[in-house]
Amino acid sequence: MAGGTKLLAVVIALSWVSNMQQFVQGKPQAVLGKPQVPCFFIFGDSVADPGNNNKLPTLAKVNYKPYGIDFPAGPTGRFCNGRNIVDILAELLGFENYIPAFAYANGTDILQGVNYASGAAGIRKESGKQLGARISMGEQLKNHRTTVLRIIDIFGKKSLAKNQLNQCLYSVGMGSNDYINNYFMPQYYTTSQKYTLEEYADVLIKQYTRQILKLHQYGARKVALVGLGLIGCTPDAIKNYGTNGSACVDIMNNASQIFNGKLVSLVDELNTNLTDSQFIYINSYGMGSGDATLAGFKVLNAGCCEADEVGQCVPDLTPCQNRSEYVFWDSFHPTEAGNLISASRTYTASEPSDTYPMDMSQLAELQINPQVNEI
Ligand SMILES: *[C@@H]1O[C@H](CO)[C@@H](O)[C@H](O)[C@H]1NC(C)=O
Ligand SMILES: *[C@@H]1O[C@H](CO)[C@@H](O)[C@H](O)[C@H]1NC(C)=O
Ligand SMILES: *[C@@H]1O[C@H](CO)[C@@H](O)[C@H](O)[C@H]1NC(C)=O
Ligand SMILES: *[C@@H]1O[C@H](CO)[C@@H](O)[C@H](O)[C@H]1NC(C)=O
Ligand SMILES: *[C@@H]1O[C@H](CO)[C@@H](O)[C@H](O)[C@H]1NC(C)=O
Repeated sequence: MAGGTKLLAVVIALSWVSNMQQFVQGKPQAVLGKPQVPCFFIFGDSVADPGNNNKLPTLAKVNYKPYGIDFPAGPTGRFCNGRNIVDILAELLGFENYIPAFAYANGTDILQGVNYASGAAGIRKESGKQLGARISMGEQLKNHRTTVLRIIDIFGKKSLAKNQLNQCLYSVGMGSNDYINNYFMPQYYTTSQKYTLEEYADVLIKQYTRQILKLHQYGARKVALVGLGLIGCTPDAIKNYGTNGSACVDIMNNASQIFNGKLVSLVDELNTNLTDSQFIYINSYGMGSGDATLAGFKVLNAGCCEADEVGQCVPDLTPCQNRSEYVFWDSFHPTEAGNLISASRTYTASEPSDTYPMDMSQLAELQINPQVNEI
């Protein structure tokens, strides 16, 4: 009995390893199991960017060492030492490859989904402009339209493409840069003179609503909307704004909370209005609010690498040795160790407040009935 169990464990471990090797090489050889959804589309900022900024004239690109030091393919443009949250989610969903970057995807790659995320991008077109080029949410949707047209081409029939697009999972995480690289940078942007935090959140949510409805028009039916995290607790925020005696920059965290409150209401409204769809909210703020030392982290308020003036790792310097002891990799972005926790709680909620009204694994399992909608 005991020997049998051990053998089984070894077999599982080995198949997991071989699974991961396929993942690493990006060449699925044998289909070991179907992913939970046929495709996964990702919209977002640096937290999810797989390298879409690499060819753009911008300071917000990180395809150099030590980024990717723990990633099999090395520095790919991911703002992390290893996998980002959507990479880990793709694994949890059962995909054998990471979702390809729009900038590099070609041929039938796009049938498993596309990642449009771009560092420094926001809901508002201007957000992040002081860093250079970036692909705003509006532009990401235009890129998705291109993908949709390509998929229709591949299937040869609009209804087949639509049916496929209805079954996919969509993750949308936007808004951080509308604060970090807009509202809280009065030297470059006027939004903080024009709006209170309350008004600004309304303006952002209004624009975001139009963008999300556009995504629905393109066939999205299972959509996760990722809320803002504790943007006032990043090493960059603490260094540049001062904490006024608090542990973090409270006003920035308050801004996140105001935005998130309205985003949850939007999720309710969308679920009420669009009965053919399911939207969920991912509570990044709540997940980030716990005591990280309980999860084994030792350094909470400094990045693992030495950062430059825009908060990114200085090229080619050796980062901290034990990345899993650090919450932050650079001055803004979590380490892979931090991402593992967020991704796993997004996929399977460990607290009831992690996701609303269901988690991503449940969203992925939902059956969506194809309906007659126009793309
Ligand atoms: C498609 O992309 C892959 C990976 O970027 C590349 O190796 C391959 O040459 C591309 N194929 C075409 C037809 O562009
Ligand atoms: C600093 O804290 C004090 C007391 O809580 C508060 O009145 C003040 O508005 C804070 N200043 C800033 C810049 O947040
Ligand atoms: C942040 O929100 C808390 C709770 O609503 C409030 O007490 C505090 O004054 C706010 N801080 C700032 C800096 O706005
Ligand atoms: C939902 O429907 C109501 C009533 O028709 C409408 O006022 C509201 O704008 C809709 N909201 C969204 C997000 O579509
Ligand atoms: C790295 O840190 C983790 C968490 O503190 C610890 O469990 C692990 O043993 C450390 N690894 C090395 C090689 O020091």
